[in-house]
Amino acid sequence: MNLPNIKILDEKDKILRKVSKEVTFPLEDATKQTIFDAINYLKLSQDEEIAEKYDLRPGMGLAFIQLGIPKRIFVIANKDEDTGKFEEHIIINPVITSQSEEMIYVGEGEGCLSVNRPVDGIVPRCARITLNYQDMDGNHKKIRVREDIAIAFQHEIDHLNGILFVDKIDKKNPFKNKDKMREI
Ligand code: NI
Repeated sequence: MNLPNIKILDEKDKILRKVSKEVTFPLEDATKQTIFDAINYLKLSQDEEIAEKYDLRPGMGLAFIQLGIPKRIFVIANKDEDTGKFEEHIIINPVITSQSEEMIYVGEGEGCLSVNRPVDGIVPRCARITLNYQDMDGNHKKIRVREDIAIAFQHEIDHLNGILFVDKIDKKNPFKNKDKMREI
């Protein structure tokens, strides 16, 4: 087995701070290939044996900018531990159209394949968001996501705007407003 041919940039790389550009259609073949490679990589990273063998950190989302490509595209692959099946999303040109007032955060802290160090603290996220986006054929779609998937979407949309999750943690008080949000 070969790992997909992708290289994930580290947070030290200034490219990650770029605002990614709108994608035009039809997609180039290379772009489609990168989408499939990124999803494949995420799936492999969630396989314990493979992750250990190839020293991969498990991840459920990747934005194109993390591969050095400033296009507004991200992918999600999240394994359902009960069924072993993956929930997959390919999201192009996302625009959030509504968001819940309720805020949540990941109790064990958010992670990112570009941030290779432990980071403590609360990253406030909306519990539910609705967004418009385009699929790989350029069709306009709408999706509503909640809980951990909503957090993943917001994390990836931040990447498209040059923002990392560590930016959203209060430096002086990393657990600020903990009691105003629901932990998941
Ligand atoms: Ni990330």
